[in-house]
Amino acid sequence: MHAYTLLAPAKINLLLEILGDRTDGFHELVMVLQSVDLADLVELRPLGGERIQIHCDHPEVPTHESNLAFKAARLMQQKFPGRGGVSATIHKQIPVGAGLAGGSTNAAAVLVGLDLMWNLGLTQGELQGLGAALGSDVPFCISGGTALALGRGEVLSPLLDLDQLYVVLAKYRSLAISTSWAYQTYRQQFGHTYPQTPTALEQSRRQGPSVPMVAAINHRDLTQIGSLLYNDLERVVLPQHPQVQKLRDQFLQFEAKGALMSGSGSTVFGLTETRSQAETLAEQMRSVFPDPDLDLWVTKLISSGIQVA
Ligand code: C5P
Repeated sequence: MHAYTLLAPAKINLLLEILGDRTDGFHELVMVLQSVDLADLVELRPLGGERIQIHCDHPEVPTHESNLAFKAARLMQQKFPGRGGVSATIHKQIPVGAGLAGGSTNAAAVLVGLDLMWNLGLTQGELQGLGAALGSDVPFCISGGTALALGRGEVLSPLLDLDQLYVVLAKYRSLAISTSWAYQTYRQQFGHTYPQTPTALEQSRRQGPSVPMVAAINHRDLTQIGSLLYNDLERVVLPQHPQVQKLRDQFLQFEAKGALMSGSGSTVFGLTETRSQAETLAEQMRSVFPDPDLDLWVTKLISSGIQVA
């Protein structure tokens, strides 16, 4: 059995629309998800017995059963018994509690890596089916690129690649936001507006901002894409965290093509057409926000998910 090292990219949301409640307690969503060139490295090694060990160089990442990568390894052992244990060493580049699917992409890497290590020959669809049991963003993290995501986020349709564009990511290191807090708060504040029938839900999907966004992506119209960026969770997170709102406002003042909070935050991104524009934007942001707690990354949109490094 070989050891494998996998590249596990982060994602941003170009769009996150909450349609309403589902019977499983989750929300019915429409998202446009996009992989970015900021990735963790996940090294997998075979271990004796049925042991699972997670190692991570980031102090806030749990290394026990609550880590989604641990759950991914256990799920694979349950589905494919007798193949032994695994150690996963995660080299963290993606910030934690950031709305960038850092935990989900690590779990996706464990699924893809164990499929290779145990020579299972699973299809991408089969791996995504397993991923959906772990978390809503895991299926997307496996395939990556640019995709429309429906349902809980696991029903994926690929869209045209946007891999020539750049983003600046901005996140306060000390500010992590819980995804379940963001969705629960949204339900408390806006649950009374959720459609009550499947027909009303479908109508609200067809009238929502994802329709023009998909058309703009099909036309590779960056100005339109930038103006259509949309995230319902901003409605609960930004009032609670004005410093995140300020980052978003400042990106737009510096003429990013568009700016948005990703997922449940706390990362905000500004979109640009070229690397040099992104570098200038990052420098401008740094000059207005010299706070050493603010991390900035210049990165590219990419067309791939989990890959062997
Ligand atoms: O699926 P995942 O574990 O990433 O979701 C984290 C939390 O986000 C869930 O516990 C739920 O509170 C919320 N969520 C939701 N509807 C979705 C996805 C996530 O309510 N479609």
